[in-house]
Amino acid sequence: MKQIVSLDKKIQSLYPLALASILLLGTTRLVFDGLKSNNSYVFQKCGRQIRAQQQVVVVSPKDLIDESCNVFEGNWVWDNVSHPLYTEQSCPYLVKQVTCQRNGRHDTFYKNWRWQPNGCDLPRFDAFKLLQILRGKRLMFVGDSVQRGQFESLVCLVQSIIPEGKKSLERIPPRKIFKIQEYDASIEYYWAPFIVESISDHATKHTVMKRLVKLDSIAKHGKHWEGVDYLVFESYVWWRYKPTINATYENPDDVQEYNVSTAYRLALNTWANWIDSTINPQTQKVFFMSMSPTHLWSWEWKTGSNGNCFNETYPIQGSPSYWGSGSSLEIMDIIRDTLAGLKTNVKFLNITRLSEFRKDAHTTIYGERKGKLLTKEQRADPKNFADCIHWCLPGVPDTWNEILYAHLLKSHQNIS
Ligand SMILES: *[C@@H]1O[C@H](CO)[C@@H](O)[C@H](O)[C@H]1NC(C)=O
Ligand SMILES: *[C@@H]1O[C@H](CO)[C@@H](O)[C@H](O)[C@H]1NC(C)=O
Ligand SMILES: *[C@@H]1O[C@H](CO)[C@@H](O)[C@H](O)[C@H]1NC(C)=O
Ligand SMILES: *[C@@H]1O[C@H](CO)[C@@H](O)[C@H](O)[C@H]1NC(C)=O
Ligand SMILES: *[C@@H]1O[C@H](CO)[C@@H](O)[C@H](O)[C@H]1NC(C)=O
Ligand SMILES: *[C@@H]1O[C@H](CO)[C@@H](O)[C@H](O)[C@H]1NC(C)=O
Repeated sequence: MKQIVSLDKKIQSLYPLALASILLLGTTRLVFDGLKSNNSYVFQKCGRQIRAQQQVVVVSPKDLIDESCNVFEGNWVWDNVSHPLYTEQSCPYLVKQVTCQRNGRHDTFYKNWRWQPNGCDLPRFDAFKLLQILRGKRLMFVGDSVQRGQFESLVCLVQSIIPEGKKSLERIPPRKIFKIQEYDASIEYYWAPFIVESISDHATKHTVMKRLVKLDSIAKHGKHWEGVDYLVFESYVWWRYKPTINATYENPDDVQEYNVSTAYRLALNTWANWIDSTINPQTQKVFFMSMSPTHLWSWEWKTGSNGNCFNETYPIQGSPSYWGSGSSLEIMDIIRDTLAGLKTNVKFLNITRLSEFRKDAHTTIYGERKGKLLTKEQRADPKNFADCIHWCLPGVPDTWNEILYAHLLKSHQNIS
């Protein structure tokens, strides 16, 4: 018991100090981020021609998940035939933070797992269908760097079927906009690590060690979200650096330390008011992603060990109810309550547990910190320097998008 208490204390502050700088991006990022892409190469590898004139999305019965099926319950099955859905080399839009193989990771199993829900199959991802659904529309991810991974994943999932010259990635901080010209469609990312306003809203100059959140302010961000057809929100890790957080509420000059749960609830309320007053449910659809789990302490899945996610090469299997201490059930409850209180229907994608199993899929020492790849010395010290928050791509965020895709297919079916 005593041990558990002290471990819980440790968890109160989610990240060991050294790890916190993972959430600090260097200004170099803006300059180097994927700009050195070799687009022509990508399209040469892919001979399929786009059928831009085709209007109808053929949603076959196999594409529709049964109402009664909980796609978030299931297990990871080895499938090196269908997965990964793209490769690092084939997607020029990946940032250095996620290209684990290029950064030196040798084991590759983490790319070959497919999520198999217990009661049904996920529809097979079809980039053509997704583009048809997105025709004339905007899909925007809003959140932190974990959410940016999901954005990049979706871009990679569709980009290979779009010819060179008909697609582009623009940076208008704090946004990234992937445009698909022939479809007049875009997949976008908007940096807002707390969803509400904060001093961490600059796209590159921010650190988790210095946070000040404006719990009742969202207008500056919100005006960029207005009219977006599909909005996908996420916000978690930035709240969890310490058990309390500096924030303002009502009086912008009155900075106080808030209990994180209290602050998170107030922030989500602000968000909920924005949703209910701004979203047109007839034309817009909103998703909320559950917490992306971290794997900072290996003793949680391997009793007696004292490492982190580094060197892990297999998912957790045979423990269907595994839940790590990094995923706060209290935050989960706040999200549940907030969504339940909304007038607007927001689809909650509860990807926490399925991702909990994937201790093998983080970037570890093959990612970045402060906008740079790890040095040799840092790599030699995985205990302090492994990133067990972000995910390699291709990888787990692709599955989140397969699930998002399944819901987009379904809602499209309902509209047309
Ligand atoms: C880009 O791709 C072409 C065609 O595959 C290749 O010849 C060229 O070396 C690549 N350039 C860079 C900068 O990677
Ligand atoms: C796929 O996995 C099977 C079973 O583990 C293995 O025998 C096969 O060599 C793998 N194929 C590839 C292309 O890696
Ligand atoms: C809140 O701000 C004060 C003053 O800058 C600082 O001393 C304190 O550590 C901050 N608290 C948290 C939880 O960051
Ligand atoms: C934060 O608030 C929650 C519920 O209001 C409470 O259960 C928890 O103990 C508080 N945490 C701290 C560190 O005060
Ligand atoms: C990681 O695995 C390699 C090879 O299995 C082993 O030599 C090394 O000691 C491991 N490192 C850690 C930190 O567990
Ligand atoms: C999300 O799923 C987990 C287990 O998979 C469950 O414990 C939790 O209650 C779910 N959250 C919501 C809001 O439904």
